[in-house]
Amino acid sequence: MPMTLTETLEAAIRSIPDYPKPGIVFRDITTLLGNASAFRRAIDELVHPYAGTKIDKIAGVEARGFILGGAMSHQLSAGFVPIRKKGKLPHETVRIAYSLEYGVDEMEMHKDAVKAGEKVILVDDLIATGGTAEGAVKLLQQMGAEVVASCFVIDLPDLGGRRKIEALGVPVRTLIEFE
Ligand code: PRP
Ligand code: ADE
Repeated sequence: MPMTLTETLEAAIRSIPDYPKPGIVFRDITTLLGNASAFRRAIDELVHPYAGTKIDKIAGVEARGFILGGAMSHQLSAGFVPIRKKGKLPHETVRIAYSLEYGVDEMEMHKDAVKAGEKVILVDDLIATGGTAEGAVKLLQQMGAEVVASCFVIDLPDLGGRRKIEALGVPVRTLIEFE
């Protein structure tokens, strides 16, 4: 019997206790990325609701969102927008502070990375508190993009991120949940 999507992802994602801080169980997708068939399956699942839809750009959050977003952009013939940790982008940026499950930081996007009215999908590997995705959606919306969807391989539902993003008017799609 072929493995279900959940079985495939559960087998391919590694969990590391007490990383990067005591009490955090880190969900490590490097093992998924290194598994050709599981990686392909995850990307196919992320893009399939949007096949045949005109999507202008995929916005990926540094660093793991870049890997998924690049593959999705190729599949959907969309451009790619990097949303980076502060100080990494060379041109004029918009910046926002945010907090995540294990810290606080600031992220930036080039001001000319999206045009008003462009349809954008946000992608990251994981949504926990939703602080990171909330910051990214706000930057995109501030520049006039229409964030038509956000997608994540992993949801940590106990941390409530989904509600935070839906409150911004952006649907959330995730492939697997972990406690
Ligand atoms: C991780 C993950 C998400 C974020 C989710 O990124 O890739 O971006 O945390 O957490 P939240 O929902 O609580 O905001 P991290 O900041 O560790 O960056 P990295 O991808 O560069 O390791
Ligand atoms: N980002 C926020 N929480 C995380 C976790 N538990 N594992 C991996 N990335 C994360």
